[in-house]
Amino acid sequence: MRDQDLVAKGASDSDEIERLVGENQGPRHPVPVPARPLGEDCGRDWSDPDWSRETPGGFWDPGRQLLRSIRRYQRWRGRGWLGAVIARYFVLQHRFWSSVTSCDIPLNCRIGGGLMLPHPVGIVIHPKAVIGPNCLIFQNVTIGRGHRPLGVPTLEAGVDVGAGAVILGGVTIGTRARIGANAVVLGDVPAGATAVGVPARIKLPSVG
Ligand SMILES: CC(C)(COP(=O)(O)OP(=O)(O)OC[C@H]1O[C@@H](n2cnc3c(N)ncnc32)[C@H](O)[C@@H]1OP(=O)(O)O)[C@@H](O)C(=O)NCCC(=O)NCCS
Repeated sequence: MRDQDLVAKGASDSDEIERLVGENQGPRHPVPVPARPLGEDCGRDWSDPDWSRETPGGFWDPGRQLLRSIRRYQRWRGRGWLGAVIARYFVLQHRFWSSVTSCDIPLNCRIGGGLMLPHPVGIVIHPKAVIGPNCLIFQNVTIGRGHRPLGVPTLEAGVDVGAGAVILGGVTIGTRARIGANAVVLGDVPAGATAVGVPARIKLPSVG
C-alpha cells in the first residue's frame, strides 16, 4: 500500500502507518519455514524416476537430447549384432550432443531417471559416479574422482547441484540435499542438508 493510500485511509501518524503496512505484508518476522522434506516434496516420492523431466521439448534441446542418446545406447548395447549396430548410431548421436554442450557425460554412466540439466554446458561426470533419480545439475559442474576419501561420488535421489560446483571422492550426497553454486564438496552431505563454500560446509535443515 502506498503512503498516499494510507493517509487516505486515515493513518495520521507513523505508528498507524506501521500497523497498516504490517496488516498488508504479514508478520514482520516471518515464521521459519521447515526445510525441504526428506524423500518427498508435497507427497512426491523422489526415488521414483520422473522420466517426463528428460523428454526433449523439440529437436534443439541439447541437454535432453544428450541424455536420450545415453539412454538409448544403454538400452541397445549387448543385444546381439542388431543391438550393436543401433547402439553405434546412438554413439554418434552422443558424440554430436557432447560436442554441442561441451559436456563429458559418458555413455556408460550410472544415472537414475529424471535427471535435469537446465543449462547443459561444461558438465563432467565420472563414468563410475552414481547419480540417483530426479537429480538436477546446473552448468559447469564436476562430479569426479578424488583421493580423500578415495573413490567417486554417489548422489542419492533428488539432489540439486548448483552452478560450478565440484564434488570429489567417495562421498555420498543424501536424498534432497542441495549443493551451492561453486561449492567444493569433499565430504558426505546428509539428506536434506545444504552444502556451500570452499571447502563446503554443511547447513542442516531447520526444524519447526
Ligand atoms: C545453496 C543454495 C541452494 C542455498 O539457498 P538458500 O536455502 O536460499 O540459502 P540462503 O540464500 O538463505 O543462504 C544460506 C547461507 O548459505 C550461504 N550461501 C548460499 N549460497 C551460497 C554459495 N553458493 N556459496 C557460499 N555461500 C552460500 C549464504 O550466504 C547464507 O550464509 P549465512 O547463513 O552464513 O548467512 C543457493 O544459494 C545456491 O547456491 N543455489 C544454486 C543455484 C544455481 O546454481 N543456480 C544457477 C542458475 S543459472
